Amino acid sequence: MGSAGAEGKMRSRTEEPEVRWWQRGAIYQIYPRSFADSNGDGIGDLRGVTDRLDYLKDGSPDSLGVEAIWLSPFYPSPMADFGYDISDYTGVDPVFGTLNDFDELLAEAHRREIRVVVDWVPNHTSDRHPWFLESREGVDSAKRDWYVWRDARPDGGPPNNWTSSFAAVGSAWTLDEDTGQYYLHSFTSQQPDLNWDNPEVEAAMHDTLRFWLDRGVDGFRMDVINRIAKDPELADNPSSPEPGEPREIHHDQDWPSIHERLRGIRAVLDEYDDRMMVGEVHVYDLGRLVEYIASGDQLHLVHNFVFMYLPWDAAAMRASVDEFEALSGGRAWPAWFLSNHDHSRVVSRFGGGKLGEARARVAAMLLYTLRGTPFIYQGEELGLPDAPIPPDAVVDVDGRDPERAPVPWEPPSRAGPAAGFSTGEPWLPLSPEAERLNAASQSGDSDSLLSLVRRLAWLRRGDQCLQRGEQRSLDAGPGVFAYLRELHGTRMLVLLNFSEQQCRPSTTALPESGLLQASTHRGRDGNPSQLSLSDLVLGPNEGLLLRV
Ligand code: NOJ
Repeated sequence: MGSAGAEGKMRSRTEEPEVRWWQRGAIYQIYPRSFADSNGDGIGDLRGVTDRLDYLKDGSPDSLGVEAIWLSPFYPSPMADFGYDISDYTGVDPVFGTLNDFDELLAEAHRREIRVVVDWVPNHTSDRHPWFLESREGVDSAKRDWYVWRDARPDGGPPNNWTSSFAAVGSAWTLDEDTGQYYLHSFTSQQPDLNWDNPEVEAAMHDTLRFWLDRGVDGFRMDVINRIAKDPELADNPSSPEPGEPREIHHDQDWPSIHERLRGIRAVLDEYDDRMMVGEVHVYDLGRLVEYIASGDQLHLVHNFVFMYLPWDAAAMRASVDEFEALSGGRAWPAWFLSNHDHSRVVSRFGGGKLGEARARVAAMLLYTLRGTPFIYQGEELGLPDAPIPPDAVVDVDGRDPERAPVPWEPPSRAGPAAGFSTGEPWLPLSPEAERLNAASQSGDSDSLLSLVRRLAWLRRGDQCLQRGEQRSLDAGPGVFAYLRELHGTRMLVLLNFSEQQCRPSTTALPESGLLQASTHRGRDGNPSQLSLSDLVLGPNEGLLLRV
């Protein structure tokens, strides 16, 4: 089936939607190298994704019921940063397949009403991209100014004190011996930064968006989008915050020009109907973060790293969620995530082992019931921990291999050592826990995290209140994060016990009773019943969802 037909059908059904597709349910991140390998070379690919779409949505409660997938980069790349170093914005790397494979994936996803969001990496290209090859030819190259080139300081050192985001790289500048100038790279030296102050660059990058929009993609996840606006003076970053400085200044990102640049990008998306842009924005001041989404003509969604970095602490989570809600004042739609391909997985980060697994269940309830869009990273629904990577198997420059280990689909005892991910040698070792933590085993186990996530997704899918109801935090005592969702008189109560002790939530702020919708605890879930909240005891690490 061609993608255009499926897409047209899907869009007409959602004309003037009350809730946009990117608000309704979860957006599921696929890291293609590690999702499913269709050709046995040990590396996941686009056909592998297409083969597994039913797992993500097949119209029944026995699938994850995702609204959309976000595909990490699959474009031609020398893979210095595993695809975040792009040498052609309009193709598919042979390791992942072909453009035809992409079109087929898009059509098959649309047939299941799964939107497709692709990664867009606008801050930098690969050093093998033809633009950079031309740029580095000489100081007079027509594309010299497409990148950020500067003379050395008088002592021969780099032009300023900016450093790469990767600690192992050090300075963000590399000297090009042939032309005697330094070029800027916010990541590895194989990822030169584009110069967005040059309007030709902006126009060329807008065209790369149109290429994928024309093919029918539904949106973009915009890689380190805060970095496409830098101080044109390239002033040094302060080595430590200035006393009394109202906000932390970074000259290499989040410059005020970001907002005009985002408006320009949004205008390109708005040439098409019902598309979405979500930004990866490393800005740790929620007020400034909200400015990226609140005006209605910039990003639709923003990845909130303040939230992602919070410790496992009910009061901290509540404070951060409340602060975001207060700052957005109803103008901005939140997005919530707790893991991706760059960060330690939820189970490992929040305690590891049985404790981490118990908390991962609470985290799933949190993500699906907060007002806002949940982002789920492949394997999060299985409670995968970070995989141990032996020193001789390390491939990433920044220590991110553990969270990128391939997805186990079946028990290795049945499907072989690659657990159904591949018939070959996987590019990274799988979790040693694959025998227990695989999709097939968890599908057949109603107590599994996968089954809980499916239930939460299904509940949210059928419930306007969870999708778009107002949200208000409640005082329920120490260790408990409690909030009410409310829409036209329908109310849902969420009680999340972040502590390892049983607790009686304090009831003054709570309704008298509620009808159980879901619990993270195996004994309680599956027995819908009216619970009195005055004598309710929450189990250790228990989350409850009630209609009240
Ligand atoms: C953020 C991406 O998520 C990460 O994987 C990548 O290394 C950097 N941006 C550079 O593109």
